[in-house]
Amino acid sequence: MTSPVPAAAKRIVVLISGSGSNLQAIIDAVNAGRINGKIEMVISNKDDAYGLERARQADIPGCVIRHTDYSDRDSFDQALIAEIDSHSPDLVILAGFMRIFTPEFVNRYSDRMLNIHPSLLPKYKGLNTHQRAIEDGEARHGCTVHFVTEELDGGPLAVQAAVDILPDDTADSLQQRVHTQEHKIYPLAVEWFCNDRLQLVSGQVQLDGSSLDSQGYQFTE
Ligand code: GAR
Repeated sequence: MTSPVPAAAKRIVVLISGSGSNLQAIIDAVNAGRINGKIEMVISNKDDAYGLERARQADIPGCVIRHTDYSDRDSFDQALIAEIDSHSPDLVILAGFMRIFTPEFVNRYSDRMLNIHPSLLPKYKGLNTHQRAIEDGEARHGCTVHFVTEELDGGPLAVQAAVDILPDDTADSLQQRVHTQEHKIYPLAVEWFCNDRLQLVSGQVQLDGSSLDSQGYQFTE
């Protein structure tokens, strides 16, 4: 009996704007052999993004495409597309990339682009999610990995992790606990995607061939 041929390693491009701690979690999972993929390029829209240093330390090529160098969103996105497509990626990962895309950009990568957002989507799209959840008296907050569509923070949900909001939580303390969960669910989602287990099929997220419910896979320790 012959064993199945392992799937080819996926080609990955990661977009960042800042610290890159989620990038680091994914680099660590690749280096540990957990993710059947290779990060071909890290692209930042900011020169001082610490994630570029993380890429350098991991011997991953990095580059900067400054949105400030372009007169409009469309020309910036065209420059991003040119760089991304030069690596023929199977997967585009948004890891704290804080720019809004044109529809053309999103549609180009629609079934192969993931984002992580610090809330239990569809709640708390946008910014300052931790503070808003505390102010609203929520009992729980969390993070979500989702496929990216034209709607900001609105694409189909893939994996979600929740944390309890504690009585003395500040936005910072809550953010830290959510970040810890982000660093678990993003590598997990990427691992599944790279093993062809997680897919977007006709707008529905599937895991191992079965549709997930609209909240995605609920991760627990
Ligand atoms: C993460 O908390 C991520 O959820 C958030 O940016 C942070 C980046 O941190 N993304 C968004 O808010 C997207 N709407 P990192 O650079 O340390 O990974």
